[in-house]
Amino acid sequence: MCGIIGYIGDNGALDIGMKGLKRLEYRGYDSAGLAISNGKEVSCIKVVGKVEELEKIVGDKDLVGSSIILHSRWATHGGITESNAHPHADCKGNIFVVHNGIIENYKQIREKLKLMGHKFVSETDTEVLPHLIEHFYNGNLEEAVIKALKYIKGTYGLVVMAKHNSDRIVVARMFSPLVISVNEHGGFVASDPSAIISHSKRMIFLEDGEVAVIKKDDFIITDLERKVKDKKETELDWDIEEAQKSGYAHFMLKEIMEQSESVANSMRGRLIIEEGISKLGGIDSVKDKLKDIKKINILACGTSYYAGLIGEYLLEELAGIPTEVDFASEFRYRKFPTVENEAYLFISQSGETADSLAALKEVKKRKALSLGIVNVVGSSIARETDAGVYNHAGPEIGVASTKAFTSQVVVLALVALFLGRQRNLSLADGKTIAKEISKLPELINNTLKDISAIELLAKKYNSASNFLFIGRKYSYPVAMEGALKLKEISYIHSEGYSAGEMKHGPIALIEENFPTIAICPQDSVYEKTVSNIQEIKARNGKVIAITTQGNEEIKSLVDDIIYIPKVNEVLSPILSVIPVQIFAYYMAVSFGHNPDMPRNLAKSVTVE
Ligand code: G6P
Repeated sequence: MCGIIGYIGDNGALDIGMKGLKRLEYRGYDSAGLAISNGKEVSCIKVVGKVEELEKIVGDKDLVGSSIILHSRWATHGGITESNAHPHADCKGNIFVVHNGIIENYKQIREKLKLMGHKFVSETDTEVLPHLIEHFYNGNLEEAVIKALKYIKGTYGLVVMAKHNSDRIVVARMFSPLVISVNEHGGFVASDPSAIISHSKRMIFLEDGEVAVIKKDDFIITDLERKVKDKKETELDWDIEEAQKSGYAHFMLKEIMEQSESVANSMRGRLIIEEGISKLGGIDSVKDKLKDIKKINILACGTSYYAGLIGEYLLEELAGIPTEVDFASEFRYRKFPTVENEAYLFISQSGETADSLAALKEVKKRKALSLGIVNVVGSSIARETDAGVYNHAGPEIGVASTKAFTSQVVVLALVALFLGRQRNLSLADGKTIAKEISKLPELINNTLKDISAIELLAKKYNSASNFLFIGRKYSYPVAMEGALKLKEISYIHSEGYSAGEMKHGPIALIEENFPTIAICPQDSVYEKTVSNIQEIKARNGKVIAITTQGNEEIKSLVDDIIYIPKVNEVLSPILSVIPVQIFAYYMAVSFGHNPDMPRNLAKSVTVE
């Protein structure tokens, strides 16, 4: 999400820091800042906007330093303002912190610290860190950091400097990546190897629960009990571009592979399994209104629209609320009558899609309740809707949406659980769903274990000029998303259809060279989809089935099988979509297309 870099040494801290921060620009961000120490004083500068803006301000000042910490922020808690940008400082201006991740118990800690007299100036979760460290600080920075971290629940990759300990920076990791390198040029730390790879290719990747004290020519890594860890360096042979993609050939593949983490981030701190509920701070302000909602209209474009279609099934099944989904581009021109107690839910990765924004304006004219599920914090749709839930999936760079989709479906499941428990969903059923949602990161990891088999399938089928994707119920939107992914990056004609509708038209296309991908996990409509597969086989069509691990009986029926782990059917799209993303990716690669930049398409469509 956010980018971090830190440096301590004799080689011009400002220049190294600024160049490193620029290399993190590809991740997307909305504000930036730095703290630089000359051994006596620390200067802290923060701006809203690009690193360029920071450069302009820094250029006007005479900043010489021997240690520096920098951050580019991708807002999660609190709006995009200078005071919310990092670094954050304690009351006395001694301790400075940059942080990636989310401090889940920040509200409680903040209240306690306030009672002790600490003054807060931002809306962020991060700001509790410098104050908590200040609380424990007794001249020894690492000791104070470790004591503070024992009170923290959540995730962090953090870098700390203190005016009175200017010979060191202290860093710690819990679920947010950090890499360090200490060599003859000084001590480096970054959230991403790309920021420091021009200074060293030998790096140490920190693990969860590790703390490192970095000096200009020395470092030590311990755990939170201060037990010293012996860590090995890794030699990276990446160039800078490869480093930005963490070694993956394309951003799309990187984003596919990080879905376990992005989905974990989307649900972090939002599930209370014992109570079978979800806690969604962003819609808390309208929770009473939501109790009376009798109808939900979901509006979105592209991949977000297909996530919306899954939302329709989820909201009707878990919450019993009649739900309708439309393309925002169509809806904006409908003469839609509003009824009492309805809500309009906008789903958008970017939060800037012109058609979705225009539809939102129409809804607002009619004074109906508008909600958002948006990934980019502070974007137009996030600002204009009455309330909403952020995805926290991190920046998505590849034009073809992948991790945003799985995150949207997870958030829709959380919203459906929330609304369901406000209505008739029992405690037992709520618990079952909450537990299943919590298992998703692990199940996604299993799904991603062997992608080479899908790469081979893409090679096997890449002479086909057309593809059909079919599925029923929860798998029907996945069929459409699969067809969209394939056509947008490999330029092969593909259609997504409801398996039941196939006999009303598309079956006429089926012949030996027109393969079908059937999304058929063993769910409540499995047998029905199998009948449709049989209809295709009877016409000599080839079939690749995406089905549940352990399904042996389908082997005799289809040509190829991709297995996904067993999961409650309402969450199955989050797993079944992954193979179709990978299939589309390798198809595009097999033709030599760049999947990150498909022809004629844009990441954020801000025109009608
Ligand atoms: C473009 C992108 C798609 C995206 C769609 C909607 O077409 O290429 O990946 O699904 O816009 O964008 P949004 O940001 O509103 O989700």
